[in-house]
Amino acid sequence: YYMETFGCQMNKYDSELVATILESNGYERARTAAESDLILVNTCSVRDHAEQRVKNKLDNFSQYRQKNPQITIGILGCMAQRLGSTLMDEKPIVNFVLGPDGYRSLPDILNKLNGNGHNHIAFQNPYEGDETYADIYPTRFSDINAWVAIMRGCNNFCSYCIVPYVRGRERSRKAESVLEEVRQLVRANYKEVTLLGQNVNSYLDGNKDFASLISDVADVEGIERVRFATSHPKDMSDALIKAIAQHPAICKHIHLPVQCGSNAILQAMNRGYTREHYLKLIDKIRKQIPEVGLYTDIIVGFPGESDDDFLDTVRLFEQVQFDGAFIFKYSPRSGTAAARLKETVPDEEKTRRLQVLNEIQKKITVARNRQLIGRRLDVLVEGPSKKRRADQWMGRTDSNKIVVFENHGKLQKGELTTVFITGAEGQTLFGQIDNDDDV
Ligand code: 5AD
Ligand code: SF4
Repeated sequence: YYMETFGCQMNKYDSELVATILESNGYERARTAAESDLILVNTCSVRDHAEQRVKNKLDNFSQYRQKNPQITIGILGCMAQRLGSTLMDEKPIVNFVLGPDGYRSLPDILNKLNGNGHNHIAFQNPYEGDETYADIYPTRFSDINAWVAIMRGCNNFCSYCIVPYVRGRERSRKAESVLEEVRQLVRANYKEVTLLGQNVNSYLDGNKDFASLISDVADVEGIERVRFATSHPKDMSDALIKAIAQHPAICKHIHLPVQCGSNAILQAMNRGYTREHYLKLIDKIRKQIPEVGLYTDIIVGFPGESDDDFLDTVRLFEQVQFDGAFIFKYSPRSGTAAARLKETVPDEEKTRRLQVLNEIQKKITVARNRQLIGRRLDVLVEGPSKKRRADQWMGRTDSNKIVVFENHGKLQKGELTTVFITGAEGQTLFGQIDNDDDV
């Protein structure tokens, strides 16, 4: 089988689950699509652009069907759930669609299709499903950081967002099963784990909440770093802030999507907080965790976003000084509440707003990174830097910043080291490893 993955970290994790399901049923991973009998694409529906990329990819796959009429092509993930059999009507090259809660039935579906390139099967999740895949240990595609899903689905219904419709209601995985997966990761030499959920702060297993779970994970012997994604500003708890501030293994790295700086738009987005609430939260976090790396997501061009609403977001950027921001153009998703609103911001204006924010953020990121010049930071070594010379390696700080340094064969992948920061450009820090501390 050959698999490609689009979308969020949860999707990447799901692909690792799918790999386990396939490999325990006798399938082997192929290096290229051309060498495979089964092509899978794990897809994202969060914006139209993500769906268009997959559709283009499918047109491109007809070459494999021509060469090998037996080849099976399947669509997994959010697009499979959202579009169901209509996707196969539009792209008959697809043999099956399988939503994110249905992966256990993959071997069964493949048996039924029986390598007949003309057969079609659609599987969409029940909306109220309770699948957590708790007993399936993923086949990891990465060797430094490992993802661990702690919950699935979402109950927030932000008005623009398709996730609750494609991934169903929120459900938490049992704490013991999360901890067991983390212990296995330690045995497999992983130093860093990232706990995943659409809204980790609503994690609940009996009376164990997220702050308590992440502390237990950070206490697992051998785990050096724990990250998490994503938390919602309306329920970021004091207990979690305290856990991040106090536990040395919990990374001082918070991804806290604000989406917009205008109260009117936040309300229309059904976000459940105001700009003032968000700013207060940021103050509280920075006071208790001064070294924190703060990252956010923004949507520009939501229906009704006026010039003044947009300027509120610009001012929020200047006020908060994020370490990084992911900025997206609003994309209406059919079935969501916002899709019923008339779009008021033309695409060129969305593009302009996106560029304005990106320019502001770039300057803030460099300025914040330059403040780190002259400091010694803990860095987890990830390996040779792909973009640079062979002796230049890269790693990540606790606050999730990339650091490039000359290695000269001194350090191995997965080692925790100290780097003396000498420069900052773009999103990247530069530094020198300093082995004196090892003596
Ligand atoms: N249009 C544009 N961006 C979206 N996001 C979610 N839904 C949409 C949409 N309909 C963005 C949000 C979210 C990130 C994962 O994707 O910023 O935090
Ligand atoms: Fe992930 Fe959401 Fe995209 Fe699905 S729609 S892959 S949950 S970002």
